[in-house]
Amino acid sequence: MRPGTTLLEAARLAGRPIAVRCGGKAACLMCKLGVHPEHGEAGLSRPTPQERHKLGEGVATRLGCQCRALGDCHAVLPEDPLKAAVRRQLERQAEEDDDSWLRSFRMKDQEEPQ
Ligand code: FES
Repeated sequence: MRPGTTLLEAARLAGRPIAVRCGGKAACLMCKLGVHPEHGEAGLSRPTPQERHKLGEGVATRLGCQCRALGDCHAVLPEDPLKAAVRRQLERQAEEDDDSWLRSFRMKDQEEPQ
């Protein structure tokens, strides 16, 4: 990967393409990447005016279409939106199952004399 490659392109080259709608024009925000908690912004270009306008100042998020890799760098790729939706649904379902199991356990506990 050549220095100056956008993180959006780098993700694609690494086999982890990010689905976007605006074609890299800082409009859709679907290319948001997390700044790696340990490595920070090392090796990343400074936020562009478009990024600052869209994301605000001092956030640990970058736009993959605007942020460029200047050297060794790290970023946290977003979870695939479909996988994220399925994961959230499964988590909700698990919580509901836990709650119903706990409720039935409590009801049985109340029914049985001790
Ligand atoms: S690709 Fe749409 S905001 Fe980056």
